[in-house]
Amino acid sequence: MMPTPFETKYGHAPAVTARAPGRVNLIGEHTDYNDGFVLPTAIPQLTTFELSRREDRSVRVHAADLGEDATYELGAERRTDGWIDYVAGVTQELARDGHEIGGFDALVTSDVPRGSGLSSSAALLVALIRGLRELYGFDMDDVQVARLARRAENGLVGANVGIMDQMACSLAGEGEALFLDCRDLSFERVPLPTNADLVVLHSGVEHSHAGGDYNTRRAECERACELLGVGSLRDLGEDDLDRVNAIEEPYARRARHVITENARVLRTVAALRAGDLEEVGRLFLASHASMRDDYEVSVPEVDLIVELASALEDVYGARLTGGGFGGSVVMLARLGRGRAAGESVAAEYARRTGREPKLLTPGE
Ligand code: GLA
Repeated sequence: MMPTPFETKYGHAPAVTARAPGRVNLIGEHTDYNDGFVLPTAIPQLTTFELSRREDRSVRVHAADLGEDATYELGAERRTDGWIDYVAGVTQELARDGHEIGGFDALVTSDVPRGSGLSSSAALLVALIRGLRELYGFDMDDVQVARLARRAENGLVGANVGIMDQMACSLAGEGEALFLDCRDLSFERVPLPTNADLVVLHSGVEHSHAGGDYNTRRAECERACELLGVGSLRDLGEDDLDRVNAIEEPYARRARHVITENARVLRTVAALRAGDLEEVGRLFLASHASMRDDYEVSVPEVDLIVELASALEDVYGARLTGGGFGGSVVMLARLGRGRAAGESVAAEYARRTGREPKLLTPGE
């Protein structure tokens, strides 16, 4: 038998293989760090870690997709602004929690595209924590895995993200959405309609969260809270919109997005439960408009995809998913029509922009 890439690299088989999926958020964007509601589901694309123990305290990681290696010593984690920071962030947080681990050899592969708004980072963090949990035999439930992953990302990596992605990659399954209240992390599993197709199309425009725009939005929400005299935007509802609209810009429109988006999540959950796909589609489009106009996290390429998709008879609705500034569009389409709809949007979009879109689901 041909040796596997791990065997070629390290000269022996891995002891543990662990995986985690990427996620697509159906609705509830930029609500998580405002203590609000989100509704993500897992996508078929996965990140996989193969791991084996070492006798010393070295960590060696091979990122097979990039053809790159990185190494460091446990206890000497520091930010390098490279992908190894995700691994070092995890081992640093494990040590802070008192989990005893030794060194390890690792190989990571992923088919969750980076910068696509589909949580390649959280998938990597969760897969690694799952793998180390098995390799070094410590106890940690799925919510604790998500919390630790977030701390690694907020800490050593330095991206001030909310908890949605890590919770989704750790707890969500395909065929169901995780209806999560980010205030207390309580959640319900909402079955996805079996009479519709979920379509995910990457625009080919990559974003970075360590970049400033995401953090600017967070700061703007904090300022809106100060102006409105609340601890969190979750404390406000649609009845408060007159008051919200009266504060200065851009804080009014940022707060308006979060407040109306929370309401749209609740309506989407109700519509999914009632099987009202037309209503889900309308909510997707309203969410997109709010992200584009009030929260200002879309880009023209993503707007074009949403516009092309929503013109199709077979598409109920479409919206930017994830943090924005590029990334992917999620669409709800008629059963059996999602692939063709996604392909036709992708072709027209590529023709008009010269970009390379990628249809991630449904598969062939
Ligand atoms: C990114 C962050 C999440 C969330 C979304 C926007 O994916 O990682 O925490 O804030 O953006 O909904």
